[in-house]
Amino acid sequence: MKVLLINGSPNEKGCTYTALNYMAKALNERDIETRILHVGGDVLGGCMGCGGCGSMGRCVKDDSVNEALKLAEEADGFVFGSPVHFASPSGDMISFMDRFFYAGNFHHKPAAIVISARRGGTTASFDTLIKYPAYNQMPIVSADYWPIIHGHNSPDEVLKDAEGLFTLDTLARNMAWMLKCIEAGKREGVEPELKSKDVWTNFI
Ligand SMILES: Cc1cc2nc3c(=O)[nH]c(=O)nc-3n(C[C@H](O)[C@H](O)[C@H](O)COP(=O)(O)O)c2cc1C
Repeated sequence: MKVLLINGSPNEKGCTYTALNYMAKALNERDIETRILHVGGDVLGGCMGCGGCGSMGRCVKDDSVNEALKLAEEADGFVFGSPVHFASPSGDMISFMDRFFYAGNFHHKPAAIVISARRGGTTASFDTLIKYPAYNQMPIVSADYWPIIHGHNSPDEVLKDAEGLFTLDTLARNMAWMLKCIEAGKREGVEPELKSKDVWTNFI
């Protein structure tokens, strides 16, 4: 079982990475393979609404979104991590998520969110990112607090946020448990009931 962790910070090895890495270690200890993909700084803007992904199965802009789409094929679960920029996820992360979720389909694969901030805007940023898996039939992994961590000037600050680290550990434990439950269910022949949606009612 594999989990793909997305780092939407412009800092490759900053606070968001440190939080994701902490979670990755906790997942590894539970026999879950991990891959952290740094996408911040390598996102060629937002979705252009061209619909190219519908025919190509990938984005017309060839950047970290396409790399993530490729890795996602092998992933059983996802963690989407972002720093807070002006009380929202980073601009790169929002652009990444719009295009990743418009081009891909990750139904029934569990997803968790991780938010890093100096002080404010954490739950607002969480609210923004959780909407992507919540729209896409992905089981949401939660912890015993909102999955936020505090750090600013140095990634070491993240490692001093004891309660935040405990929350990340809970998130990882719950992700591992959910993945193992899904795997056990598959062995017993329990599969999700997939139906393609043929009702689209636009309010116009
Ligand atoms: C453009 C910008 C805007 C920011 N806005 C906020 C903010 O609204 N609230 C906050 O607590 N921290 C804010 N920060 C601080 C970062 O969220 C915080 O340092 C974060 O942990 C950095 O993660 P990173 O090292 O992975 O980039 C901002 C940082 C930047 C660069």
